[in-house]
Amino acid sequence: MKIAFFDAKEYEIAAFERHKREDIEFKFFETKLSEDTVSLAKGFDGVCVFVNDTVNAAVIDGLKENGVRIVALRCAGYNNVDVRHCFGKLHVVRVPAYSPYAVAEHAMALLLTSVRRIHKAYNRTREFNFSLSGLTGFDLHGKTVGVVGTGKIGRIFIDICKGFGMHVVAYDKFPDEESGIEYVSLDELFSRSDVISLHCPLTEETYHLIGKETLSKLKKGVIVLNTSRGALIDAEALLEGIKRRIVGAALLDVYEEESDLFFRDFSGHIVEDDVLARLISMPNVIVTSHQAFLTEEALDGIAETTVQNLIAFRNGDVMENELCYRCGSIEDCKKARKTRCF
Ligand code: NAI
Repeated sequence: MKIAFFDAKEYEIAAFERHKREDIEFKFFETKLSEDTVSLAKGFDGVCVFVNDTVNAAVIDGLKENGVRIVALRCAGYNNVDVRHCFGKLHVVRVPAYSPYAVAEHAMALLLTSVRRIHKAYNRTREFNFSLSGLTGFDLHGKTVGVVGTGKIGRIFIDICKGFGMHVVAYDKFPDEESGIEYVSLDELFSRSDVISLHCPLTEETYHLIGKETLSKLKKGVIVLNTSRGALIDAEALLEGIKRRIVGAALLDVYEEESDLFFRDFSGHIVEDDVLARLISMPNVIVTSHQAFLTEEALDGIAETTVQNLIAFRNGDVMENELCYRCGSIEDCKKARKTRCF
């Protein structure tokens, strides 16, 4: 089986080399998959894509014309794939979980960095500036954290926060009443939380979950933490919230318009995105470039599951990680399906 691997980075190639099998040949392309690059997939059985590859209707039709039969996402989120359009044309598999600890721990790393001003202290002491002025932080203990999305990552983040003695409230479209988590409405979460951390998927419903209308509902000085998907937050509204001192800090591993920027080195270039440039210039904003997943354990998990997904496809088996639109909704299909999607 021949697989065209798009947006390949050296750390991923190393992980896939560790899990390689003789019967699956990966060809690594640095470029992202898009309408402009879809022709590269000609002659391949499948494509392997990541969060910022484009798998829209035009790309799907192009892949099908080029003989591709499977899209293997090497990530959990699938907002960049038109799964509905894939139905009957291309199988879609993903890696639903690969060290959720990696993402939850990164979220806490961002939070601690911000509240204890570690990023500022690091720069100071490198220049032998041992002054403490302006470095006053605050205790997380006793603060309220609002977690949106209590799936695999959200729950681990909740446990970490509880370890810090934080009070946790949560909102989930599908709350798990058995979990012992204190579920509240989204509005109540907004008004009570000192820290809001987003761990839900990006869907039509969650697009701009934090936007212009939300600002007035937030507790003054709230810390907004996003390690999920950029478009959960309206970046311009966030900027306004920071300028109006409603948002006390924004800690972002993802950004709405990240796809043309993240994972690449733009130092020495003029970045055209004024909103991102302004956000990064703020003293209370920390941006990491979609790095939360990046641990050895997660990379190994991604490579292992992707290879298993491809083997199941080649063997004609039911693919437990297949995304399917046969039932009219991916979520309903996941619950109901015991066979291949088509
Ligand atoms: P999961 O599927 O285990 O949990 C998602 C939770 O969100 C579920 O409990 C679900 O019921 C809930 N949800 C669905 N629709 C919702 C809505 N409209 N409002 C509120 N909650 C809703 O997913 P997991 O593994 O916990 O991942 C969460 C997100 O993290 C992914 O969707 C992905 O976008 C992001 N992610 C980011 C990474 C990074 O490197 N920054 C790496 C991996 C995932």
